[in-house]
Amino acid sequence: MSPTDHKSDGAGAVLSIRGLHLAFVSRDARGAPRRARVLNGVDLDVGPGRIVGLIGETGAGKSMTATATIGLLPPSAELSGQIVFEGTDLLGLRGTALDKVRGARIGFVAQNPRAALEPVTRVGDQLVRLIRAHSSLSGPAARERAIEVLTAVGIPDPQARYRSYPHELSGGMAQRVVIAMALVNRPKLVIADEPTTGLDVTVQAQVLDLLQQRVRAQGAASLIITHDLGIVAQYCDDMAIMFAGRVVERGPVAAVFADPRHPYTQRLIAASRARIGTDLTSLKSDPPDLFRQTSACVYADRCDRAQAVCQSAPIERPCSPAASEHRVLCHLTPIP
Ligand SMILES: Nc1ncnc2c1ncn2[C@@H]1O[C@H](COP(=O)(O)OP(=O)(O)OP(=O)(O)O)[C@@H](O)[C@H]1O
Ligand SMILES: [Mg+2]
Repeated sequence: MSPTDHKSDGAGAVLSIRGLHLAFVSRDARGAPRRARVLNGVDLDVGPGRIVGLIGETGAGKSMTATATIGLLPPSAELSGQIVFEGTDLLGLRGTALDKVRGARIGFVAQNPRAALEPVTRVGDQLVRLIRAHSSLSGPAARERAIEVLTAVGIPDPQARYRSYPHELSGGMAQRVVIAMALVNRPKLVIADEPTTGLDVTVQAQVLDLLQQRVRAQGAASLIITHDLGIVAQYCDDMAIMFAGRVVERGPVAAVFADPRHPYTQRLIAASRARIGTDLTSLKSDPPDLFRQTSACVYADRCDRAQAVCQSAPIERPCSPAASEHRVLCHLTPIP
């Protein structure tokens, strides 16, 4: 598929997020409301069959973007904007309509498989329950499907593993089960939030290879959240770089690596070239103040090129008329 098969205006995308704002409301000591502004207008597309890497330092809002998409934010969250999935704005859905999308049309691979699996339920029973919640398959047919998906994710002796409890599995095997659960209902979109954190390096590669291979085999699209540019380079088609609750640059991986336009992306890529395996946490400086309301560019305080114009919010623009899918959010980037 060519990168232009999905357009940057979101048309044809499986998932198209536009102007997503998220704040958490709490009360200060005098009872006045305080808003922690976590997402400040996220724009992001996941095209059909594409694997998109969402990257950015701790606190940038990557997990909150995913959590908003799967509809699992806590009640104190104030959310506005659009999350259009297969043509429907998920922000307009409630209750069972949302449950139908979550778990069936969108699969989720959590960071910690131990937290994602129920400790006292056998692996096979968890899969069967998920299958039967979203289909009319009979018990035996659901069991067959569960064994089939355990086999597909490379679990040795799937018949025996079907009867295992999560604590009987290694970390890598448990994460394979979580991937099986995310894929079992053949979703159109798989969201994986740091799917290999905590696994050793060899197992990480196995899990990512598997995720990529299964997502492609099922023709699904995927959003993979990571701190690691190497993972993005190796496994993703497109990438989006987040900073302080905004996507500051996005586009095909090859285009962004070849010609990064945002000063933050340039800094990340330069740092990763200087040192293989750079984790973005090593670039961390003071986190942005979530309580400050400002119309300035989110990167202005950290940007060594900032000018007066950066005190106003930039608008995302295509980097060139010929390649409109590579887009940047910066006043200072020359656009041909
Ligand atoms: N319930 C909450 N109330 C207030 N602030 C919250 C809440 N949940 C998350 N946040 C804040 O939202 C911001 C974004 O969090 P998020 O988990 O999306 O970051 P992230 O990019 O996934 O970071 P990491 O790479 O560390 O996982 C953080 O500053 C976090 O403290
Ligand atoms: Mg996170």
